[in-house]
Amino acid sequence: MTSVNDIRSSFLGYFEKNGHEQVASSPLVPRNDPTLMFTNAGMVQFKNVFTGVEKRDYVRATTSQKCVRAGGKHNDLDNVGFTARHHTFFEMLGNFSFGDYFKEHAIELAWNLLTKEWGLPKAKLTATIYQDDDEAFELWKKIAGLPEDRIVRLGAKSNFWQMGDTGPCGPCSEIFYDHGEKYWGGPPGSPEEDGDRFVEIWNLVFMQYEQFADGSRTKLPKPSVDTGSGLERVAAVMQGTNNNYEIDLFRSLVGSTMQATGFNGDPTTPSLRVISDHVRAMSFLIAEGVLPSNEGRGYVLRRIMRRAMRHATLLGAT
Ligand code: ALA
Repeated sequence: MTSVNDIRSSFLGYFEKNGHEQVASSPLVPRNDPTLMFTNAGMVQFKNVFTGVEKRDYVRATTSQKCVRAGGKHNDLDNVGFTARHHTFFEMLGNFSFGDYFKEHAIELAWNLLTKEWGLPKAKLTATIYQDDDEAFELWKKIAGLPEDRIVRLGAKSNFWQMGDTGPCGPCSEIFYDHGEKYWGGPPGSPEEDGDRFVEIWNLVFMQYEQFADGSRTKLPKPSVDTGSGLERVAAVMQGTNNNYEIDLFRSLVGSTMQATGFNGDPTTPSLRVISDHVRAMSFLIAEGVLPSNEGRGYVLRRIMRRAMRHATLLGAT
């Protein structure tokens, strides 16, 4: 079995081989960025590099970034435990270009990793693009040979990515994996898209603008690339399950949760998944100095802890 750890190394190694600097994850509490509650994507630590304010001695980077999406613009808290794929804390794999390569090479790099290095069948993959992005449409046909009905045009709600109310942003192109007919759900853009059959495994953002608080938008100094691929979702694909809670990492956490609560029933019970997820978010947040409180980040942590404790009670733990 390809473990979560193997997949992380394989992703970072592939991008390093393709000229990217391996950069460590930044903290969950963004340094010097009052606009964000938590680091919610791999690009957060590179925000000022995209806008040209900060210079680094590399133009390509790759990371596995600790992320929390439980407060602020990207908030998945209420879904957690009840879908196969949402988390409060997760790791986002990413590759970044700061004014170096753009759309074509971003698509090429992603497609080759998925289909050549990792051997995922092309027939299982679908791409989405921003509705007006004819260039991305042609590139998906040329590079991946995807048939036109598997390149889906979608509006700004799903295919224009913004970190928050301000900051770098741009149209994006997402890659979905089809876990097969035995699961409920439909392709992106269909009425059943929220099911767990078609799961987004990678988002390629073509960064071109900076958004300001007054609603205005300017062009970035150079077109750039920001991508994000959920490590736990990729692990589910590689480990032959459609459910993140059945990957190696979560199987251990669910087992420990059963021991700690004394619950010996069905290991797929949502409460076990809620606790297994929330324990990770709690641990990483507390390790970085966030403490439960009545406001701001501390309040989000408190809600996560309270939700986990409520589910422990539901399992019969006293
Ligand atoms: N920043 C992009 C995302 O979070 C890649 O989806």
